[in-house]
Amino acid sequence: MIPDKPPQDNVFHGSEELKKEAHVPSFDKYRELYMKSVDNPDEFWGDVAKDFFWKTKHTGQFLDYNFDVTKGEIYIKCMEGASTNICYNLLDRNVHEKKLADKVAFFWEGNDPGDELTVTYRELLQRVCQFANVLKAQGVKKGDRVSIYMPMVVELVVAMLACVRIGAVHSIVFAGFSAESLCERIVDSQCCLLITADGFYRGDKLINLKLLADEALQKCRDKGFPVGRCIMLKHLSKEPEGIVGSQSPPAKRPCPDLQQEKQAGRVKKTRPVPKVPWNPEVDLCWDALLRGVSDECEPEWCDSEDPLFILYTSGSTGKPKGVLHTVSGYMLYTATTFKVVFDHQPDDVYWCTADIGWITGHSYITYGPLANGATSVLFEGLPTHPDVSRMWEIVDKYNVTKFYTAPTAIRLLMKFGNEPVQRYKRSSLKVLGTVGEPINPEAWQWYYNVVGEKRCPIVDTFWQTETGGHVLTPLPAATPMKPGSATLPFFGVVPAILNESGEELEGPSEGYLVFKQPWPGVMRTVYGSHERFESTYFKKFPGYYVTGDGCRRDKDGYFWVTGRIDDMLNVSGHLLSTAEVESALVEHEAVAEAAVVGRPHPVKGESLYCFVTLNDGVMYNSELEAELKKQVREKIGAIATPDYIQNAPGLPKTRSGKIMRRLLRKIACDERELGDISTLADSTVVEQLFQNRCCTAV
Ligand code: PRX
Repeated sequence: MIPDKPPQDNVFHGSEELKKEAHVPSFDKYRELYMKSVDNPDEFWGDVAKDFFWKTKHTGQFLDYNFDVTKGEIYIKCMEGASTNICYNLLDRNVHEKKLADKVAFFWEGNDPGDELTVTYRELLQRVCQFANVLKAQGVKKGDRVSIYMPMVVELVVAMLACVRIGAVHSIVFAGFSAESLCERIVDSQCCLLITADGFYRGDKLINLKLLADEALQKCRDKGFPVGRCIMLKHLSKEPEGIVGSQSPPAKRPCPDLQQEKQAGRVKKTRPVPKVPWNPEVDLCWDALLRGVSDECEPEWCDSEDPLFILYTSGSTGKPKGVLHTVSGYMLYTATTFKVVFDHQPDDVYWCTADIGWITGHSYITYGPLANGATSVLFEGLPTHPDVSRMWEIVDKYNVTKFYTAPTAIRLLMKFGNEPVQRYKRSSLKVLGTVGEPINPEAWQWYYNVVGEKRCPIVDTFWQTETGGHVLTPLPAATPMKPGSATLPFFGVVPAILNESGEELEGPSEGYLVFKQPWPGVMRTVYGSHERFESTYFKKFPGYYVTGDGCRRDKDGYFWVTGRIDDMLNVSGHLLSTAEVESALVEHEAVAEAAVVGRPHPVKGESLYCFVTLNDGVMYNSELEAELKKQVREKIGAIATPDYIQNAPGLPKTRSGKIMRRLLRKIACDERELGDISTLADSTVVEQLFQNRCCTAV
């Protein structure tokens, strides 16, 4: 299962100093705990659960499940019979029981240096309770879905935990997604309310979020799903004139003059303020709603398997899947992975650069760190704004000890050389982490040698929106590291590698990465479609959870995730489905057919290479190209913007009409070794496409 002994050759080790204080100080200890977690999960997780507050205790076994579609419905239940509230465990327990009231929960660092805010656990609890009361006053009840579309501000955490406090289910939509994507997600999860902000800056670019939110709500109305209320936080605008439009806010729902509001620390720089349309029928102002509202709110006690949140991830059919996580298992799993993988210590300052709109931000900015009473940096900005030293400046400013980012960010910064890093000391750093895609050894070495100065182990954490938390990962003081390998399973996780016929491969091998049994944090269903949950993850190989990733195991038993083996692309650590981009392209009136493949990219990992076949009589030109790019941005969001678009009068198809994507990938990369093309209906198409390849990104 896992090796008896740690590998000796070509490995990197955590520092002796780290081993002294670590929760898991050696490979032997990791092995012992791992064996306990799989042989006796009840006892292992039961010990973890002791540190949390339970209104009622669980009865029966810790995990109950069926992973085999041939034996009936797939289900995973953890701690049945127990009831708790995660918000209570994250905040009240830390404030009252752990005496952390005055400890900083978040150092908020805005887009522009100098914009900052500090929030303690006590303040966070008060603000969450107050906003929870606001939601209740708006009629939000346990089980209702609330959509959140906000920038990286403290109020985003407040909004999500306020939902959790009253048992409502949050569905956060990354603020980089388009109005169309937001609408699709609101309708799919039938949200009763939207929480957003006026706007925000990404570097020097203004994102007029409220405009996008309004557009999304209009689209929802057009689809026959009117959302009654939209709460807007004034993040940028300080003056009441910031809110303009056909109608100003009516007296009964005033938007306050924020000069009178406590504005400590909000965006100070004078930047242009967005003009915000205001619809008095729907819009409500965050600050106005809070006036005079109590900051005490009794938590709603939830059953272990009550829904906690929905988070959408790309699906290979093109329609995003609403991944559903539930209360107790997710809480225990994110808390434990955070504590052990980052080796959390009480005086740490932890910084995860992800956006809360993705699972990394859910699990490792909000839930895991707060469950451990950690102090985190919450960063609104970009690694390159105002310059490419920003990350390291922030590390020194807050004395960050544990730092977690994505390979794409490392590759981006690596391009600028060592000097911007070395301008800052970074002596506080102890552990570095990566997530989102395989890290290439060159980027790993740079991260290790230059950023961490050979002192800090790198935890290359493999996981997914669906897994809730890390599933393959080194532990910083226990697992020898190999650059590019996510190494070994976390506690409770039993990986296997299968061949095409579904047979488990032993020893060094390569194939499908699957998991044989659940761990507490694994997703429970696809919201609104349990059938889709079963068919996506459990049908291909009955008895296993199928990740969709390919994987190699080396002679030491280490896992090397090689990337997606379905129709998904990983662009800058974000999963996109080719079908989703294709359907955005064919919605354009000029396009008859589209096929999208990934092309390796030095910073983003993969870039989008799109082949489009135009309708008869339509001419391909640069204006059309720009329109197509815009079309995809508007349908999905900026992350899906095509890098290359090629006019393809014909696509390589088999005689049965199936597009041979394998060949398109070769064309995109200009690789002439085509393999067997005997099943092609018309092989001349391939040569034509090679001749018209795009060499430069659009
Ligand atoms: O392909 C794997 C890749 O990201 C996918 C999951 O994407 P998402 O659900 O958006 O969650 C990303 C953040 C957890 C996986 O199926 N992936 C993630 N981490 C790694 C990785 N591939 C290799 N190594 C990793 N450390």
